[in-house]
Amino acid sequence: MTESTPIIEVVDVSQSYQTSDGVIRALSDVTLQVQEGEFVSLVGPSGCGKSTLLNVVAALLRPTSGVVRYRGDDHIEPRSEFGVMFQAPILLPWRSLEENVRLPGEILGIPEEVLTSRVDEVLEMTGLEEFRAKYPWELSGGMAQRASLCRLLASDPEILLLDEPFGALDEFTRESLDDELLRIWRGTNKTAMFVTHNIGEAVYLSDRVVVMTPRPGRIAKVLPVQLPRPRAASMLRDRNYLDMVFEIRGMLGVATT
Ligand SMILES: Nc1ncnc2c1ncn2[C@@H]1O[C@H](COP(=O)(O)OP(=O)(O)OP(=O)(O)O)[C@@H](O)[C@H]1O
Ligand SMILES: [Mg+2]
Repeated sequence: MTESTPIIEVVDVSQSYQTSDGVIRALSDVTLQVQEGEFVSLVGPSGCGKSTLLNVVAALLRPTSGVVRYRGDDHIEPRSEFGVMFQAPILLPWRSLEENVRLPGEILGIPEEVLTSRVDEVLEMTGLEEFRAKYPWELSGGMAQRASLCRLLASDPEILLLDEPFGALDEFTRESLDDELLRIWRGTNKTAMFVTHNIGEAVYLSDRVVVMTPRPGRIAKVLPVQLPRPRAASMLRDRNYLDMVFEIRGMLGVATT
């Protein structure tokens, strides 16, 4: 393996689903390389296969054709280096918020004290500390999403696969969690693939933004983001930021005039 081996390679991946209405082609010939430590966002219209692509990358779904590689090796079985935050926060109803957050760490055998301190840290970071003993049905949609983010971070995976993690949050909370996520990502040299409908959020967070076409999802364009790190809210009026948001809006057919 050389230093330039991408941590994730998606090679000619296509995905079709058999449904009662026939075959649905969700992804078509998607090829993408992600380098270790990169932050890559996926944007595209609803139903273009973004969640499908994340599931394929996580090896939760075997693609109809094509391959995914992890550090140069075929990636067929799910592995602990990949952490997924699903679009719908699936929390176990018989476990409290804290117990849900601990679960993957327990399964992975992370030592008790390490896990406890990580759980405390992520609950504090997301403002969920005072709700730690609550059960999933006692949480708001936004709280459940934050709990799901905590669960992902508490097991400390090398690769973060995040499927619209902050879609149910108000703008203020979303922006502060975006910044927290960036802080964690930078501080731990993780690699992130982030799905969002929010074009501005994709640009703000990412090194590259992958713009997908309507179904079957293909990669329309991969745009490098010309903004320095660390990112800050003041960049939201930077010319490079605004130009890129408008370029992507144009590509996705969102009004630009
Ligand atoms: N398990 C499945 N069985 C059948 N069809 C599916 C399945 N999962 C997804 N699809 C279909 O594949 C297409 C892509 O779905 P996917 O969930 O990947 O899109 P998406 O880009 O994540 O959309 P959204 O932005 O709405 O979350 C859609 O047409 C969807 O109906
Ligand atoms: Mg989706």
